[in-house]
Amino acid sequence: MLVLGVESSCDETAAAVVDHTGLVHSDVVHSQVKLHAQYGGIIPELASRDHLRNIAPVIAEALDRASVTVPQLDGIAVTQRPGLVGALLVGVQAAKGLAWAAGKPLVGVDHLIGHILAVYLQRSEERIDTPSFPFVCLLASGGHTAIYSVASPRPDDITELGATRDDAAGEAFDKVAKLLDLGYPGGPKIDRLAATGNPARYPFTVPMAAKRSLEFSFSGIKTQVAQHIERNGKPQTESDLADLCASFQRAAVTSLTRKLFTAASMQGVRDVVIGGGVAANRELRATVLAEAHKRDMRAFLPSIASCTDNAAMIAYAGLKTLERGEVHGWDLSATSRTVLARATRKGRGER
Ligand code: KG4
Ligand code: ZN
Repeated sequence: MLVLGVESSCDETAAAVVDHTGLVHSDVVHSQVKLHAQYGGIIPELASRDHLRNIAPVIAEALDRASVTVPQLDGIAVTQRPGLVGALLVGVQAAKGLAWAAGKPLVGVDHLIGHILAVYLQRSEERIDTPSFPFVCLLASGGHTAIYSVASPRPDDITELGATRDDAAGEAFDKVAKLLDLGYPGGPKIDRLAATGNPARYPFTVPMAAKRSLEFSFSGIKTQVAQHIERNGKPQTESDLADLCASFQRAAVTSLTRKLFTAASMQGVRDVVIGGGVAANRELRATVLAEAHKRDMRAFLPSIASCTDNAAMIAYAGLKTLERGEVHGWDLSATSRTVLARATRKGRGER
């Protein structure tokens, strides 16, 4: 089975061809980072227009690199939700047009399920190990941060156990980077600077520390950094900057890791998975591996290219849907909300 995936939910226009073993035959990502960088965040209208300019060439390139023609495909999968509706619509309409013209099955995919299943992508003939169901997955990206119990790829079998009350983890990295004039997106920049810093220099507290709570607050950590800057001014030397980045990152990684393993032990599972852009963070990856090792558990980390937004994960999630015999109609539409039920409500007090 060979599926084309199309992704345009945020600031990446992407297309990829993936087969039923998870092998990625091509993976093309056109990033809009430079376009939005000058504004310090994503401007939805600019995102839609840029997707429109790039969607056709990106799809053509993905097919070309995979040496596949549309008639050879078994289906076309497209991110349908959640995301910026105007941006999503560009991918949905392109995928619909292509599927309709070629008489191929069309399937809409939830972007979050794409991130959760990204760990099954194989990027070389040398196969990597994959987790067994059920597992617990920490999904941390620019728009979402939550922990899921995953019993199968079906949306009904993916249960949110807890999520952030406020900002997503990636959003906190981006906001702290903005406070430090590091530019957008901030995650990779903080990751790089933190590598040489002292994480114990500024001991920020980890919010929502109650032992069994699976909820996060990243706005709280960001506020501590903002208050530190208000009191002491912006870091004046490279080493002060590195220490501040390392201290912030340590608090964020501690929160993510603790709750992932609390959830795994509450669920009684042995396999833990991470996904989303923040799963590219080197300290998070190292910490999750080390903590799993300590507990005699198995941690599965997608490759960096599979963590950040891509269409290969969408193709794979769509393929799993098609394998179940599900196909979507021509009335497939874009929507800003995830299909996955929420356990944590944003902005509410203690429950
Ligand atoms: O999954 P993703 O590409 O897009 C969304 O679906 O949101 O995630 C992007 C987010 C951004 O906030 C970015 O700063 C963060 O992931 N990110 C990182 C790293 N690489 C990307 N955060 C921490 N460390 C990284 N190495
Ligand atoms: Zn994403």
